[in-house]
Amino acid sequence: GKTYKIASIPGDGIGKEVIPVGQRAAEAAAAKHGFSLTWTEFDWSCERYVETGQMMPDDGIAQVKEHDAIYLGAVGWPTVEDHVSLWGLLIPLRRELDLYANVRPVRLLKGVQSPLANRKPEEIDFIVVRENVEGEYSEIGGRLYRGTENEVAVQEAMFTRRGTDRIMDYAFKVAKQRKRKHVTSATKSNGIVHTMPFWDERFAAAGKRHPEIETSQYHIDILTAHFVQHPDWFDVVVGSNLFGDILSDLGPAVAGSIGIAPAANINPEGVFPSMFEPVHGSAPDIAGKGIANPVAAVWTAAIMLEHLGETEAAKTLEAAIEATLQAPETKTADLGGTANTEQSATAIIEAING
Ligand code: NAD
Ligand code: IPM
Ligand code: MN
Repeated sequence: GKTYKIASIPGDGIGKEVIPVGQRAAEAAAAKHGFSLTWTEFDWSCERYVETGQMMPDDGIAQVKEHDAIYLGAVGWPTVEDHVSLWGLLIPLRRELDLYANVRPVRLLKGVQSPLANRKPEEIDFIVVRENVEGEYSEIGGRLYRGTENEVAVQEAMFTRRGTDRIMDYAFKVAKQRKRKHVTSATKSNGIVHTMPFWDERFAAAGKRHPEIETSQYHIDILTAHFVQHPDWFDVVVGSNLFGDILSDLGPAVAGSIGIAPAANINPEGVFPSMFEPVHGSAPDIAGKGIANPVAAVWTAAIMLEHLGETEAAKTLEAAIEATLQAPETKTADLGGTANTEQSATAIIEAING
């Protein structure tokens, strides 16, 4: 079988607890399906920053480029200001590797209780496609006159035609592979936010390029309400960097827990390796207690294997996850279970080896 080279960056907090579980699960699936994985582990993290003054070495990006995929836990820890750790690691990875499509599936899995009354698995099944390298998260701006009465904070949102068109096309292509073939755009087009009428024009233009796909659009404010009241309306939801970020925490909450939500940062052209990381962060409030839910990391590993072409292995991982969600002893507290990370992990591995 084939061998894939994976760069693993556990990062901070629970990243260091859940990434090893995802690796074990991926290894078990690889053994079962006859391919191999080799892992290069990088200690890039806030801990490293405190020791060396850098989140990653100067040639860090060049080092991860030598791999087929990147598997990342979470970046951010209270000992280092978030803007330092994020601009020093997570954001450069996304930008320098041109991982412009952040794909975040939301599915109510069997055995998980949605906080919404009476929702069944088939009623919550959509994908947030988030623009991942520009928009509101621009590098234009900064802070001036810090600590004085003249203090100013400014940041220009930047939506390029190329950047907007390519994320729209990506969302429509994702929709094409799905049953319902529908794309919803998250917007704020009532002219208050100048960038959004432009976003809408590019969405309409993309709709014309993909006439077989149905479209809808909602202002971001009411869209968050619809996520709660009508999650069944959605198939593919395309959003800007900030809107997509918000929707991709809300979606998993509606589908039971942020502790299960996977994400793929994709470079669709395949020029650079894509990066796979759970939606959740380093969870300082529970880190070190051994109780983090490893499912998001395992589901993320499944999406990574699928991206590498190992579809059957991905299915094995997803089935193993679902099997462990059927009893409280094999799922973690955020899902109403009694398992700690290791008990959940062991159950997942046993289900894979089944
Ligand atoms: P968070 O996702 O880390 O935590 C939010 C809440 O969800 C916490 O109560 C946490 O305990 C819970 N939670 C998250 N993952 C869980 C899991 N697997 N199992 C059980 N419970 C889980 O978000 P935050 O608190 O806003 O951010 C904490 C740090 O993580 C910050 O430094 C932030 O910048 C960083 N962060 C990084 C990433 C990333 O690297 N991709 C993503 C989000 C946040
Ligand atoms: C995410 C995170 C990041 C983001 C933060 C940590 C910068 O919330 O991956 O969703 O906003 O992109
Ligand atoms: Mn987020």
